[in-house]
Amino acid sequence: MTLQDTLTQDERLAELDLDTLRRLVGLVEHDPDTDPFPVTGWDAVVWAVGNATQSAHFFRSAYGMELEAYSGPETGNRDHVAFVLRSGAVRFVITGAVHAESPVAAHHARHGDGIVDIALEVPDVDRCVAHARTQGATVLDEPHDVSDEHGTVRVSAIATYGETRHTLVDRSRYSGPYLPGYVARTSSYERRPGAPRRVFEALDHVVGNVELGRMDEWVDFYRRVMGFTNMAEFIGDDIATDYSALMSKVVANGNHRVKFPLNEPAAGRKRSQIDEYLDFYGGPGAQHLALATSDILASVDALRAEGIEFLMTPDSYYEDPELRERIGEVRVPIEELQSRGILVDRDEDGYLLQIFTKPVGDRPTVFFELIERHGSLGFGKGNFKALFQAIEREQERRGNF
Ligand SMILES: [Fe+2]
Repeated sequence: MTLQDTLTQDERLAELDLDTLRRLVGLVEHDPDTDPFPVTGWDAVVWAVGNATQSAHFFRSAYGMELEAYSGPETGNRDHVAFVLRSGAVRFVITGAVHAESPVAAHHARHGDGIVDIALEVPDVDRCVAHARTQGATVLDEPHDVSDEHGTVRVSAIATYGETRHTLVDRSRYSGPYLPGYVARTSSYERRPGAPRRVFEALDHVVGNVELGRMDEWVDFYRRVMGFTNMAEFIGDDIATDYSALMSKVVANGNHRVKFPLNEPAAGRKRSQIDEYLDFYGGPGAQHLALATSDILASVDALRAEGIEFLMTPDSYYEDPELRERIGEVRVPIEELQSRGILVDRDEDGYLLQIFTKPVGDRPTVFFELIERHGSLGFGKGNFKALFQAIEREQERRGNF
């Protein structure tokens, strides 16, 4: 298999190479022929929001994404508007209802701004769906072709946790801007002078919050139905503060482009951040998206300059001699991390830098993580306690703790 074959079309467009992807998202070699449900990578993260016009502007102006395509009443879509945005290899589709009867309006009423679809690129839609069906998956949309003057896309969708779905997309015979029904569109918005070329380059992982006691069921779903494997496991004390706890397990596809940590609440003295999410989202759903960057300092500075707020990290985190010892040498002085609130974690393979935003919408539900990996394939296990204490301080301020 040549290097060209291993990269997705989106990664080639984003001028990412294999070495960069290995470092950015921990990409590994994988033989799709032996995989019952081969997944090439992410296709799109589809959002349902209350005002897609304004959210799309926010993702352009604050997160530096670029508008690529559009669907709406002007293109014959009488149900909703949809803006397709890109940063590096990451595609967001922001949808908003144009009338009260739209399913997008109903989804938004139930969940607030959230993620309806974590779409995945697969080489063989029919093979994946046939396997998923034998394993008892709910097929929401049978495999079918959609075509326009740019070619044909084969798609299908299966259900996952809550009201979230995975659309499976084979776009190997398609050259259009996104999907049939969309038209290419750019925006007159111009990046500010000095802003980085892009704030993030790839999607590292998407975390799902599921109901109490159902995490193992969903881990099993991804293993059985989609051929994913367990990557890491954090239970109990690893992610417990004095007051609340959660359990988390991580599954990944064969090449590790797609990684799904799955959280469930665990009993604690107070309600955990997962309980708060489940209450306000109205059930299970996608909790955070980890955006991979090769310069987290520049990314954080660019986001802060646009008014994006991050979770505070206490100074004690950086001054703790035990933590300094554990972290060792990282690429920048620790003061540079401290002034921005960036967290560090190290394991046997290397280290990672990460930071978490406040929720992106009105409800205390979906948020972003920025992650810069240097060899570590972990998820910041060592930071969980420091991080969750910071989250709980926010939860307390909202009166939900
Ligand atoms: Fe994460």
